Amino acid sequence: MAMNVAIDGPAGAGKSTIAKAIAKKLGYVYVDTGAMYRAMALFFLRSNISKDDEAKISSVVDDINVSIKYEDGAQHVILNGEDVTGLIRTEEVGNMASATSVYGPVRSKLVALQQELAKTTDVIMDGRDIGTVVLPNADVKVFLTASVECRAKRRYDELVAKGQDADFDQIAKDIEERDYRDSHREISPLKQAEDATLVDSSDMTIDEVVEAIINLCNK
Ligand code: DC
Repeated sequence: MAMNVAIDGPAGAGKSTIAKAIAKKLGYVYVDTGAMYRAMALFFLRSNISKDDEAKISSVVDDINVSIKYEDGAQHVILNGEDVTGLIRTEEVGNMASATSVYGPVRSKLVALQQELAKTTDVIMDGRDIGTVVLPNADVKVFLTASVECRAKRRYDELVAKGQDADFDQIAKDIEERDYRDSHREISPLKQAEDATLVDSSDMTIDEVVEAIINLCNK
């Protein structure tokens, strides 16, 4: 049986950094499910489909082919044959992904892909509904969170380090809105699975969080 580790939590809690580091240490494959929702969102943006047009979004889902491949251990997202890995990391795509991931057809398509990946491979998968919906029988479940203030500060520092404009208050507001939307949607809202371990990374270093989760995996 493949080992499955599920990491859920709000945007900016450090899920991908932590999950990547753990995957490397344990020799598992890291699956970033947010990237799949982002690839779909990029398709909707390019097609000029409004985030509110549920009927249109539902009708085009079957035309969208999202798949994942790995190069040197790094995940690449393929949208209808095109590698879009470098195009999906913008705030615009992230917000569109948050808004369009509320629709059933979008979710069921990507959940099936995620479950298929985890069946035969040791994975550490991060997202919003991994422990609750995608992999309810995961061997280890973690709910990784941090305060809004702390997540906004990390995002702010990241942008400043890249030489981009950053407005701390705006970033914090966006994070709060995204949290609200992700945790109040009807289908598969972001919530801690009953059997998940809560890890608050506000006052922890990356290494401390990685170690805490590896300890859970070794139990
Ligand atoms: O983790 P991220 O910021 O790349 O995710 C982008 C959006 O995709 C997030 O705001 C909500 C959605 N998402 C989801 O609904 N379920 C997941 N398993 C992963 C992401």
